[in-house]
Amino acid sequence: DWTMRNFIDESIASIRERVGDKRVLVAISGGVDSSVAAALVHRAIGHQLTAMFVDHGLLRKGESDSVMQSLRDKLGIDVVRVDAKERFLGRLEGVTDPERKRKIIGEEFIRVFEEESERLGPFDYLVQGTLYTDIIESGTHTAATIKSHHNVGGLPEDVRFEIIEPLRDLFKDEVRRLGEALGLAPEIVWRQPFPGPGLAIRIIGEVTEEKLHLVRESDAILREEIAKAGLEREIWQYFTVLTGNRTVGVMGDERTYAYTLAVRAVLSQEGMTADFARIPWDVLAAISTRIVNEVPGINRVVYDITSKPPATIEWE
Ligand code: XMP
Repeated sequence: DWTMRNFIDESIASIRERVGDKRVLVAISGGVDSSVAAALVHRAIGHQLTAMFVDHGLLRKGESDSVMQSLRDKLGIDVVRVDAKERFLGRLEGVTDPERKRKIIGEEFIRVFEEESERLGPFDYLVQGTLYTDIIESGTHTAATIKSHHNVGGLPEDVRFEIIEPLRDLFKDEVRRLGEALGLAPEIVWRQPFPGPGLAIRIIGEVTEEKLHLVRESDAILREEIAKAGLEREIWQYFTVLTGNRTVGVMGDERTYAYTLAVRAVLSQEGMTADFARIPWDVLAAISTRIVNEVPGINRVVYDITSKPPATIEWE
């Protein structure tokens, strides 16, 4: 539509004028905001933009490849994927405290970012996917006292870059429309919110390869069933949580002693409050049956019926 085209044209002109022939870096997470910001800046300055995608190994099934396909293969953005899985898993070894896990992931992200930007640089500008709501909320934000947030906006404070924030006048729904207009894949544009620390905070206790596998496979089944039921856009967030509990079950004639998995699905406007989603019983039944049958290591599925407050959306 006309306003969107106008916005794109004006943004492109102002980015070009500001950047000149300098080099620009953007850190992408796979989320909507950083991807749309990257696509817009790429329209303006093409190969003067480098996108750094730090793959911490804590993403959902298929997510890392889908980011590469959508941004590099389809849009032609110069995306450098940094495979940092071993580093993150190594630093998380033996760590069980939720806040420690969050802090470690945030710190390690900054370390990887600094090393890689040095290696790929020098850069003069850094693109951030800050939205209008981020600017408004940062004054009154109290969530940080409950959980220390990590996202790709959380970069070192002493960065030597000048910051470009091409989305700072937009709301989330406008960012999604902009993303569509720029040709981003629907799975990126309509992606549900996903925390910076990723699956690590959906595994209670220590993060291991084995547990990552359980939470990733069960999450993929949940997403398939929610899509099949046509509930994708109604539910704000839906995901699985690997509890640290193991319980007794029976499969065939065999006794099992395996993990309890929780399904979390909530309705929300902006994540500050949330109500658990009243998913139809039949859909929950299909989710439970498939997960227990298809993911060995899980023998029990429970549904989280707590709203926020008093619970938070994520379990850690
Ligand atoms: P909680 O669990 O506090 O989460 O109710 C509220 C919303 O924030 C997301 N979340 C995060 N997002 N970095 C992020 O970018 C984080 O560290 C983080 N922790 C939670 C959560 O998924 C929900 O949408």
